[in-house]
Amino acid sequence: MSATAPAILYRQHLDVLEQRATAALERGGFDHLVVPSGTLHYQAFDDRDYPYAVNPHFKAWAPLTRNPGSWLVFTPGRRPTLVYLQPFDYWHVVPEAPGGYWVEHFDVRIIRTAEEALQHLPQPVARCAIVGEPQSALGDYVPDNPAAVVDYLHYHRAFKTPYEVAMMREATLRGVRGHHAAERAFRAGASEFGIHLAYCQAARQDANELPYGNIVALNEHGAVLHYTELGRLPPQDSRSFLIDAGASHGGYACDITRTHAADTAGEFQAMIEAVDAAQLKMCDQVRAGTDYKRIHLDAHLALAGILREFGVLRMSPEAALETGVSSAFFPHGIGHGIGLQVHDVAGFAASDGGGTIDKPAGHPYLRLTRVLEPGMVVTIEPGIYFIDMLLDEVRKNGHGDAVDWNRVETFRPYGGIRIEDDVVCTGDAPENLTREGFAAAA
Ligand code: GLY
Ligand code: MN
Repeated sequence: MSATAPAILYRQHLDVLEQRATAALERGGFDHLVVPSGTLHYQAFDDRDYPYAVNPHFKAWAPLTRNPGSWLVFTPGRRPTLVYLQPFDYWHVVPEAPGGYWVEHFDVRIIRTAEEALQHLPQPVARCAIVGEPQSALGDYVPDNPAAVVDYLHYHRAFKTPYEVAMMREATLRGVRGHHAAERAFRAGASEFGIHLAYCQAARQDANELPYGNIVALNEHGAVLHYTELGRLPPQDSRSFLIDAGASHGGYACDITRTHAADTAGEFQAMIEAVDAAQLKMCDQVRAGTDYKRIHLDAHLALAGILREFGVLRMSPEAALETGVSSAFFPHGIGHGIGLQVHDVAGFAASDGGGTIDKPAGHPYLRLTRVLEPGMVVTIEPGIYFIDMLLDEVRKNGHGDAVDWNRVETFRPYGGIRIEDDVVCTGDAPENLTREGFAAAA
């Protein structure tokens, strides 16, 4: 774990961003990188705006997540410019003047209206690579996201700087606080909504700050992969609890899933422990040179092995993978890259010049197909679920005999199990940010 001060890590991070931006501009044949932070979007026929989501290319440069109407400009060989919107606005709290360890590295230009940014953007516009969403267009500065520039930046973003890993470590500490509070609320009999509020309170973040909507699932709801309903009343009997909830820090995400059983001596608890042990072995596979697709396919074998051990499956793990039966119980990918976005970009990128690495046939939901290299941060999130519509498919596809349906009925009331950690690939043993975070909080 790096204890280096953020100011030092940030300087190194900025060096890397400048090198990458310089190379990306060269690829695209541009002189300037121009990045709008983004603008507010309004709901149809309404004056209410949607929650603001900052352009990830902007927050990569500075930990600013609540500053619509600002711009970042980088010209190779020069200090980056931050055009910072601090509007005259008595309806809302105006963003404070930029402050913190990162500010000294920028040429900061304060503007009072969004249009004033035009005076600070480089000319001619034809020499600018403008990377952002279409709605950010200002005058002639229309985001065009040149493929050569974006492909390069996205591909290399998979390799996190030590600063970025430090940010994710902080996000994890927040998430861990939330997870502990959520488990306590579950054991006290709270509703899904109540557990969610306990989580937000402990993480000190609300729905708009969290990197994704909390998945708080009691009982059978654990079988819905992205269950975000947040039931307002507690069920009569809370048997099981699946929580997939993260937190943000400085624009970076963590993504953590845990599953708990009310009966800590029962069979569902035993299955959770089996998945947990298998998950730790999968995390250990996060090593330089390992194909992430391999981890995904190995996870199918390990999870099918657990299902066999618990009497749910009657076929070998290999046959379960071959026939697609394992996918009925584990119907999502083993994980994804994570960083500025919970599902980070470029999971399928073949190179920094473009191209795609295909998913294995029959595995449409895998989000990362690259070979792991030092600096990549990925999630490892195996799961076992009892999902009626997928189990029906197993019967229809002629594999019903491979399943002990009485055992399925035993586990169905618990919904499912998912355990998810965020893991850094290094030149040596992997670093598990999530397990470290829980250990630090213990
Ligand atoms: N945490 C939600 C997901 O990875 O899909
Ligand atoms: Mn995830």
